[in-house]
Amino acid sequence: MRGKTGVYLIGALGSIATTVVTGALALRERMIPPIGMVTATDVFEGADLVRIEDLEFGGCDIRCATDEHPAGSDFDAGPIDPRIAEAVGPELRAILKGIHGGTATNCGEAIAGLAGCTRQDGGTLRDEIEEIRERLRRFRRLSRLDEVVVVNLASTEPPLEFEVCHEFPAALEACLDANRAEKIRASTLYAYAAIREGCPYVNFTPSNAALFPALVRLAEQCGVPVMGSDGKTGETLVKSALAPMFACRNLEVLSWEGFNILGNMDGRVLNHPQNKESKIRSKDRVLAKILGYAPHSRTGIDYVPSLDDQKTAWDFIHFRGFLGAKMSLQFTWQGYDSILAAPLVLDMVRLAEFALRRGEAGLMPHLALFFKTPMGVEEYSLEAQYRMLLDYANGVRTALRPVTGP
Ligand SMILES: NC(=O)c1ccc[n+]([C@@H]2O[C@H](COP(=O)([O-])OP(=O)(O)OC[C@H]3O[C@@H](n4cnc5c(N)ncnc54)[C@H](O)[C@@H]3O)[C@@H](O)[C@H]2O)c1
Repeated sequence: MRGKTGVYLIGALGSIATTVVTGALALRERMIPPIGMVTATDVFEGADLVRIEDLEFGGCDIRCATDEHPAGSDFDAGPIDPRIAEAVGPELRAILKGIHGGTATNCGEAIAGLAGCTRQDGGTLRDEIEEIRERLRRFRRLSRLDEVVVVNLASTEPPLEFEVCHEFPAALEACLDANRAEKIRASTLYAYAAIREGCPYVNFTPSNAALFPALVRLAEQCGVPVMGSDGKTGETLVKSALAPMFACRNLEVLSWEGFNILGNMDGRVLNHPQNKESKIRSKDRVLAKILGYAPHSRTGIDYVPSLDDQKTAWDFIHFRGFLGAKMSLQFTWQGYDSILAAPLVLDMVRLAEFALRRGEAGLMPHLALFFKTPMGVEEYSLEAQYRMLLDYANGVRTALRPVTGP
């Protein structure tokens, strides 16, 4: 019989991570239906994915478990029904108490400013990696887990400019041996450790240091499925559904301007120009990929503290039709960031564990639907990405169907 699967969350005290755990506990208690989870739809019936009740949660964070976050007495349940928060609160707090310190190596000043629980004794990059690997092994051993899936839910790092170090595994190893901290970031160390420990790895953040070609190639060599980057939960989700409409009706998009305001800690970190740059680069790719040309486009992200976890996106689309007439479309998207993100994380954990069991290695392109910048995928239309997932699910079902005699 199949045992338990561990879910190791990097940034485990953050908003998405705590919502993931809360949601999984509420699902386990049958307090909520699995709304928002694609793997709970008929498409995956009979696909033998790990059950939510067989997931065990752990992870790390650079903030300490006693500061202003849900592990303490001031658990802020946000939009979550208070009955659910009360029912799962004790177990959630027990899980969060087990969260240990992380690394903030070369993460930039916005993230360094959050850090209260990082290793203090310096040490080399290899030392840091060994510590993360040991944590993963302990998690697997103590919780008697069959597999461990690692998900990066840490704050967005500033972008890293890639060089030879980031192309091939041998170059990356040399860079780690030479202790060249300026060439890597904390997210690189986590991903490297996960891959070396045989743990499927998902980068939900736009941090480009968290998954680059050398790491993908290493994952292929180690037989580990990986995927990223940057979960697609709000404005970009709507963009990737709407932009194909303009393309297929031959309407010319002249400009697409988007303004986002959000108030949580993610918003606070993204308020920092370098960190914001990572998010904007990730959001900006979608239109040109779908339309085949790049209209005038700008994406603004502003931090408005009073909004807490709520995000509002206002998009203005200016387009040209028959006889050169200019027209426009506007939409406003309002949502809770972590509520939108958490079911995707659970979906991806189930699919990553499944991919490992099936012997898949390297990128998981069928997960493109879940990402703003799906690695190794040129298809950015939401509908086409959904079909990629359906094709995968159908392929899996066909492979599982028992062969019947003539
Ligand atoms: N909410 C969404 O819809 C959405 C969509 C796509 C991507 N993301 C990305 O997901 C990530 C998490 O979002 P969130 O809203 O939970 O943010 P958050 O700020 O609430 O949580 C991030 C957590 O990561 C921790 N952290 C930062 N650096 C770390 C490190 N090096 N090691 C370990 N922990 C570290 C922080 O202390 C914090 O607890 C962000 O990068 C965000 O941009 C979010």
